[in-house]
Amino acid sequence: MIHVLFVCLGNICRSPMAEAIFAQQVTHAGLDQKISWDSAGTANYHPGKKPDHRTLQVLTAHGIETAHRARQITDQDFERFELMLAMDQSNFNDLQRRAEALRREGYALKARIEKMGTYEPQQPVVRDVPDPYYGDLKDFEAVYQMLEPACAELLQQLQART
Ligand code: 4NP
Repeated sequence: MIHVLFVCLGNICRSPMAEAIFAQQVTHAGLDQKISWDSAGTANYHPGKKPDHRTLQVLTAHGIETAHRARQITDQDFERFELMLAMDQSNFNDLQRRAEALRREGYALKARIEKMGTYEPQQPVVRDVPDPYYGDLKDFEAVYQMLEPACAELLQQLQART
């Protein structure tokens, strides 16, 4: 089993969208016994909340549902997930810093921390998935358009490993 965690700041816009897209792709590929998924935020701004209504609107428009509730990342996540995918550089730096601190405390960490943009196909530079929170629906759709092919590429690479 490979455990994948999608991470953004608030866990209401980008990472729950990535999680829901990936969940549908994994399930469709019949790999839900081999790959598991979740999402979390580096901040604790919206614990227990449903994803932002614009994330839900974009997902619904693409035929995807989610029951995710926002949560903050925990120390245990670093032991449980083989792969942590940060939406932007700031999320990535936060995860790296926390992983370093945990290693210094003697935790045996499983997690490989990467940026989601690494999986964008045919994209020579690794881009941030931009924070759409202060934007409008167009920005959420743009996030979807980045995440959908990146999730598909991620799944393909994981499939090669399972
Ligand atoms: P997310 O977007 O990190 O993609 O979930 C944000 C959600 C909430 C806030 C910032 C970004 N906020 O400042 O409350």
